[in-house]
Amino acid sequence: MLLFYAILFIIPSLIYGQYECNVRETEYGRVCVCNSTYCDIVPPLETLLSGHYQLYSTSKSSPGFSSVTGSFPTESSSSATVTITVGNVSDTLQTIIGFGGAFTDSFGINLLSLPDDVQQKLLYSYFGQNGIQYNLGRVPIGGTDFSTRPYTYSDDDLDTFELQSEDYSYKIPVIQKALGFNSNIRLFASPWSSPASTKTSNSITISGELKDEYSQWWADYHIKFLKAYEENNITFWGLTTQNEAFDGFLSVNIPNIKYTAARMVTWIKDFLGPTIRNSSYSDLKIITHDDNRAVLPYLNWFVLSDDDALNYIDGIGLHWYSDILIPPSSIEFAKSDKKDLFILGTEACNGYIRILGIHAVELGSWLRGMNYLNNILDDLSYNVTGWTDWNLALDESGGPTYIDNNVDAPIIVNSSSGEFYKQPMFYVMGHFSKFVVPDSARVVSSASNDKVKSMVFKRPDGKIVVTISNASANDITVEIDIEGVSGVINIAGHSVNTFLYKA
Ligand SMILES: *[C@@H]1O[C@H](CO)[C@@H](O)[C@H](O)[C@H]1NC(C)=O
Ligand SMILES: *[C@@H]1O[C@H](CO)[C@@H](O)[C@H](O)[C@H]1NC(C)=O
Ligand SMILES: *[C@@H]1O[C@H](CO)[C@@H](O)[C@H](O)[C@H]1NC(C)=O
Ligand SMILES: *[C@@H]1O[C@H](CO)[C@@H](O)[C@H](O)[C@H]1NC(C)=O
Ligand SMILES: *[C@@H]1O[C@H](CO)[C@@H](O)[C@H](O)[C@H]1NC(C)=O
Ligand SMILES: *[C@@H]1O[C@H](CO)[C@@H](O)[C@H](O)[C@H]1NC(C)=O
Ligand SMILES: *[C@@H]1O[C@H](CO)[C@@H](O)[C@H](O)[C@H]1NC(C)=O
Repeated sequence: MLLFYAILFIIPSLIYGQYECNVRETEYGRVCVCNSTYCDIVPPLETLLSGHYQLYSTSKSSPGFSSVTGSFPTESSSSATVTITVGNVSDTLQTIIGFGGAFTDSFGINLLSLPDDVQQKLLYSYFGQNGIQYNLGRVPIGGTDFSTRPYTYSDDDLDTFELQSEDYSYKIPVIQKALGFNSNIRLFASPWSSPASTKTSNSITISGELKDEYSQWWADYHIKFLKAYEENNITFWGLTTQNEAFDGFLSVNIPNIKYTAARMVTWIKDFLGPTIRNSSYSDLKIITHDDNRAVLPYLNWFVLSDDDALNYIDGIGLHWYSDILIPPSSIEFAKSDKKDLFILGTEACNGYIRILGIHAVELGSWLRGMNYLNNILDDLSYNVTGWTDWNLALDESGGPTYIDNNVDAPIIVNSSSGEFYKQPMFYVMGHFSKFVVPDSARVVSSASNDKVKSMVFKRPDGKIVVTISNASANDITVEIDIEGVSGVINIAGHSVNTFLYKA
């Protein structure tokens, strides 16, 4: 038996590398380099005995995951800088759906630009047993700004519907490989634009509304998409009602359909909702909004206040692009007092405000990792149940993107050297996706001061997870008290930590 486990642990490390980050100093910080012979993996979770803990850490000076174990109670803790208290682990809040990223065309293009064995390491890093085990994936319906051309699947005759070369090269085989690592990834699809001739702008990229007479047609198009992917063994858990329906009003020329709030209500209650619920995809989670916090009031005043539309909605999708201006308390607008709806982060990336002189890619930026961390913790403190990053990987310029909308991603691919770089953002995502597994519940906790940010969860396997970060340069001691059993652990300056405990 022991030999069996030894082999299980040794094999991934032989193939994929060891635990240490292969550090490279970069312009903005540090990354972990993966190549054909080396890629860091996550130390395996220990089977903890009661009273024992495992502490995973990622620091600015050493990205990657390190792990130590210990047991509680530890001796006197009067010197601790902060105490995190969990009074009752059964005192739970929202249930977690998951964490992940988007299978954009640009991700597929970058992945395929690497040698086969490096591609395998990249997918393993995200989805493998000793990777960060992403369990949520977004799939664009048709082309997005992270494609090399605008495209949809048909002209205005649905009989012409066919998936495109991008689906066959960059999405389907990649998603199938990810599902090979984890068949339980919750996939949700999101539409960008309908075919040019069905829009008032007669263009995929110029913003326009759907022509009225194409409303049912567009709902049927969604069914065609779901069927075409199903024929390739890819089934969906969810569907959003439109990516950033309000963008159209900003005249941003991204493939898009623009909706007024009233039009969105009609789309959901008269077309998409009945079509999905009356199809073989009736269990799909219908996620509306799929847009920024800034426009949440419109969701609340119109979509959520229409009982017929509300009847079809399961959840609310949030993008993070206005979060620098709009406080997390505005997430309250996503709540309905008539129906339990889940709230899910459906898109985020750094490097998007380039008009302010911000670079698309800031390789190695710890700050950008902290942006992810703080946003996830803020969101989760307002009942959000998971978080989806945007492109799983981009190239060194933050593309390709045919409209030059370059941005950052947790993994940057260097096709000329056949390497990829895991940035601090990657490891921050991992602290959630790997440890705060689907169906974990957030647990009520308190902290004696705000020297660290922390959040507590209870996993389905019963382990208690405490996510702890500290952005100062100094190491500190943290006391953790779980139902009266306490101990002290050390947290490095500029670090993100996951403490797993078996009561
Ligand atoms: C991969 O990185 C490791 C660690 O830096 C290095 O020893 C090895 O030579 C690299 N392999 C290739 C093929 O470049
Ligand atoms: C903990 O909470 C559960 C569920 O709310 C409750 O049944 C139980 O009595 C509580 N335990 C203590 C020690 O308060
Ligand atoms: C779907 O899965 C079945 C069973 O595993 C397999 O035989 C078939 O080739 C797959 N089809 C595609 C298009 O991948
Ligand atoms: C559901 O579909 C059936 C046949 O596919 C159709 O007869 C029926 O009118 C549809 N119901 C709704 C509510 O769309
Ligand atoms: C949090 O969301 C869940 C659904 O995910 C819902 O059941 C619950 O009522 C929400 N809680 C609050 C306080 O809004
Ligand atoms: C990418 O690879 C090229 C060619 O080996 C190299 O010159 C360049 O420095 C690499 N980029 C980074 C960020 O290391
Ligand atoms: C980390 O700790 C230091 C000092 O203990 C504190 O000043 C800083 O605000 C903390 N960082 C966070 C993110 O709370």
